[in-house]
Amino acid sequence: MVETAYAGAQAPARHRAPSLRADFTISQDWNAYSPEEHDIWRTLFHRQESVLKGRACEEFLAGVRALGVVADAIPDFRRLNDTLQAATRWSIVAVPGLVPDAVFFEHLANRRFPSTCFIRRRDQLDYLQEPDVFHDVFGHVPMLMNPVFADYMQAYGQGGLKALGLGALHHLARLYWYTVEFGLIETAAGLRIYGSGIVSSKGESVYCLEDPCPNRLGFGLMRVMRTHYRIDDFQVTYFAIRSFDELFDATRPDFTPYYAELAGQPDLPAAMVLPSDRVLHRGMPR
Ligand code: PHE
Ligand code: FE
Repeated sequence: MVETAYAGAQAPARHRAPSLRADFTISQDWNAYSPEEHDIWRTLFHRQESVLKGRACEEFLAGVRALGVVADAIPDFRRLNDTLQAATRWSIVAVPGLVPDAVFFEHLANRRFPSTCFIRRRDQLDYLQEPDVFHDVFGHVPMLMNPVFADYMQAYGQGGLKALGLGALHHLARLYWYTVEFGLIETAAGLRIYGSGIVSSKGESVYCLEDPCPNRLGFGLMRVMRTHYRIDDFQVTYFAIRSFDELFDATRPDFTPYYAELAGQPDLPAAMVLPSDRVLHRGMPR
């Protein structure tokens, strides 16, 4: 699925398959982090903390607070799991990097979020091709504290297993990309971010809301599942939901007939705006 984009992941030696279990999990080995690694986390955390005020949605910010994720140090998954389990019955499992699609979906379907544990180097603060612990834990886990989003992610895992069998993974992966990773939400106060790929990126957190270049369009399930995406640069189009309930309701039906319908329709280039789109902002070419 989308994490295939990160196939180049190469974790530092101490995390490289120390003892890979059958479900591709490892142990986080929290005591092995160096002071420098904790310091990189601290730098990333402080940067995002200031940039996300007034940009991230309240659900995300509340999730960070409730989880007790702080600047001090890379979180210990055992501690996070106590809080997460009690709140929404989710847990984090450590993985060395990319895991096969079926394994990824199987974890989500069982309310387990596979998270990397290595952290990027200091010369990679702004951009990293593969997910690291900052992206996975700071970016993804806070939203799992939200009951509706927590159920959406589990349903996505179940849907992933089904899509694998139907050869429709590319359609479902686009949904993940444009919601879980790069989603925006319309609120009374204006557009806000909930996508993990955005909240863990300083540059894209500003760009997605304030730059004139990208399109900002109303979310549509079939629309999104037809649309290509960028894996190597900021997005050219963002889709905004109106609420997490709306998102979950749209994705509740069985997708089997949807995939059949999509098979007869052409894919759409990432930058395209259709007459049927609800345009919040039309992107202006650079
Ligand atoms: N209802 C979808 C299906 O039948 C599963 C799904 C739920 C997919 C939520 C994505 C998000 O495939
Ligand atoms: Fe991610």
